[in-house]
Amino acid sequence: MAAVIRSRRRVSVFFYVVLAAAAAAAAAQASNNVTSDEEYWAERAEVARSRNLAAYVSDPVAATNRFNADVLRATTRRALARYDGPCMATNPIDRCWRCRADWATDRKRLAQCARGFGHRTVGGAAGKLYVVRDPSDDEMIIPRKGTLRHAVIQDRPLWIVFARDMVIELRQELIVNHNKTIDGRGAQVHIMFAQITLQNVQNVILHNLHIHDSKAHSGGMIRDSKRHYGLRTRSDGDGVSVLSSSNVWIDHVSMSSCSDGLIDVVNGSTAITVSNSHFTDHDHVMLFGASNDSPQDAVMQVTVAFNHFGRGLVQRMPRCRYGFFHVVNNDYTHWIMYAIGGNMNPTIISQGNRFIAPDDPNAKEVTKREYTPYKDYKEWVWKSQGDVMMNGAFFNESGGQNERKYDRFDFIPAKHGRYVGQLTRFAGPLKCIVGQPC
Ligand SMILES: *[C@@H]1O[C@H](CO)[C@@H](O)[C@H](O)[C@H]1NC(C)=O
Ligand SMILES: *[C@@H]1O[C@H](CO)[C@@H](O)[C@H](O)[C@H]1NC(C)=O
Ligand SMILES: *[C@@H]1O[C@H](CO)[C@@H](O)[C@H](O)[C@H]1NC(C)=O
Ligand SMILES: *[C@@H]1O[C@H](CO)[C@@H](O)[C@H](O)[C@H]1NC(C)=O
Repeated sequence: MAAVIRSRRRVSVFFYVVLAAAAAAAAAQASNNVTSDEEYWAERAEVARSRNLAAYVSDPVAATNRFNADVLRATTRRALARYDGPCMATNPIDRCWRCRADWATDRKRLAQCARGFGHRTVGGAAGKLYVVRDPSDDEMIIPRKGTLRHAVIQDRPLWIVFARDMVIELRQELIVNHNKTIDGRGAQVHIMFAQITLQNVQNVILHNLHIHDSKAHSGGMIRDSKRHYGLRTRSDGDGVSVLSSSNVWIDHVSMSSCSDGLIDVVNGSTAITVSNSHFTDHDHVMLFGASNDSPQDAVMQVTVAFNHFGRGLVQRMPRCRYGFFHVVNNDYTHWIMYAIGGNMNPTIISQGNRFIAPDDPNAKEVTKREYTPYKDYKEWVWKSQGDVMMNGAFFNESGGQNERKYDRFDFIPAKHGRYVGQLTRFAGPLKCIVGQPC
């Protein structure tokens, strides 16, 4: 298009015509056929649901054991000594790529590095590199080439990188299509003012990004893929909202100060890892399962590992319903109400974390069962193993009869919580320099 149209005036006239036509079509669609967008998303949800079921693993304990064994192998004294040079990678995810000087020419190596339930996430590894050069976000229906929005709506796999440091002020939720990596290494990339939505998609990596100050938006016409745009209703202002999606990996991200949750995972999403990230200044940090009426969330399997839950956090790190959650080797230095909570019988395996309780004598308990008396929650499997408890922190375990479902001696212990400072030392976005280990 740019090659054909030479003058700027003609570009803008051309755009005006296209936009006017698009807007008219959109308006017609919205008024005459209000259900078509709903049908479109329902169809996509149906396809996503079978993909999500395929990503679910029937033996989650084997997956947690594999994770723990990997960490133990990567953190023997001998293994660590080998990496005691200019680059220190202290956990197996980082070990997989950080100490290689060629990270910038071999970015897709990262696709081999996910661990935990999201370990199959390869993002856009099958696709080309897409370089974001334009931080603007003005066009929701026909996004400009070179913008992040133009990159994420493409139907083909893409590995998305950034030409330089940039602040991307989203005007509406950013709807990410299948098979994408948003790789901020080599730049400091801030994504703010609206949420990143992963809806009915598979295979997305978010890496080395600053995501913050997302706000609610009233919605409107927004493109979600090459072939489709439509009327979106309100977005809540989460940092990242994951709906009916699977194989998602969020790594080395910092998140703070959004209007709703920092990370919401809902509607039967599964095969997800959140790792090496740094969370601050927020009330509702992570919600895994949004509703008591969504038993489909029983397929949810999420690993939360090597993260730093820091200053200014209040609760939900995470709050869980129904699924299976491996919360391992995280550093909880701040909370105001509680750290890990939930209801509707989620399975929560807390291993090798460090919990530093606040001074408030009423907030020493790590755990919180929402609106459930003991007689009802006593069979929920909530286990703490190898966690370090400081400043009076305590984890109220439960499990009773159901524990036999997973013989507790089947669990491989995690790397102990006393190593958490080391394991999470590089949480958040890294400052990677091209040509050097990161
Ligand atoms: C609305 O749009 C959908 C999908 O484009 C189509 O299948 C359906 O027949 C339309 N309904 C009406 C009432 O026009
Ligand atoms: C949530 O899942 C249900 C059932 O699988 C589906 O009908 C619905 O469209 C999904 N909602 C969204 C927002 O994807
Ligand atoms: C994602 O990419 C892989 C590899 O190219 C492809 O096999 C798969 O069909 C893609 N998924 C979707 C939903 O497009
Ligand atoms: C901890 O759990 C026990 C049962 O295991 C329960 O009776 C008790 O009330 C709980 N303690 C707190 C402080 O919630």
